[in-house]
Amino acid sequence: MNIQNSRFLNKTNEINEYFLPKLEFNYDYFGDFLSNQAMEIHHTKHHQTYINNLNNAIAKHKEWSKYSVEELLANLNNIPEDIRTAVKNHGGGHANHCLYWTILDKNKTLAKSQLKHAIEKDFGSLENCEEKLINSAISLFGSGWTWLCVDKNKNLLIENTQNQDSPLSKGFVPILTIDVWEHAYYLNYQNKRADFVKLLMSHLNWQKIESRYIDALSL
Ligand SMILES: [Fe+2]
Repeated sequence: MNIQNSRFLNKTNEINEYFLPKLEFNYDYFGDFLSNQAMEIHHTKHHQTYINNLNNAIAKHKEWSKYSVEELLANLNNIPEDIRTAVKNHGGGHANHCLYWTILDKNKTLAKSQLKHAIEKDFGSLENCEEKLINSAISLFGSGWTWLCVDKNKNLLIENTQNQDSPLSKGFVPILTIDVWEHAYYLNYQNKRADFVKLLMSHLNWQKIESRYIDALSL
């Protein structure tokens, strides 16, 4: 089995269950950008439901519970067929949200070196990269995620996935993600996805994203 990044090993050794990660901030941390209510529902209801459903699926094949959710998603074709779709959907929902919570911040924090240079090489400038992320998120039809990933050649690429599909299943390492399911923004922005995505650019912690980029280079 190809062992992938296990940064989000959200399970305990005792019960082999995946669990909701504690956030590094309170639900009211983002003020007007994302309300206390929106954050709490997103984390404790939406994210938790994916975890519950993933645990229910893995309970049918307990031997797979030793793997991180990222390992499951990177090896979907090896997952028993009767739980493969559940792992794709609910494991994806778990892993995608785990990444999402960690790259948000109250203010924009810029990358310092390696990722800054890589973005300038692959996109020309951070502004161009942000514009492509915004356009990609706005153009995504239905529910899904917009990603900045590292491919096998260590180049950056912007990618959309539908539903809760993970770029890990395509062999990419995601380092930034934007949740463009309506549940991510509807309470605060209603139908105005573009307003949410544009404001999100002012709430990205590029230093944390850079740390993920450096990890991805070493895989
Ligand atoms: Fe979400």
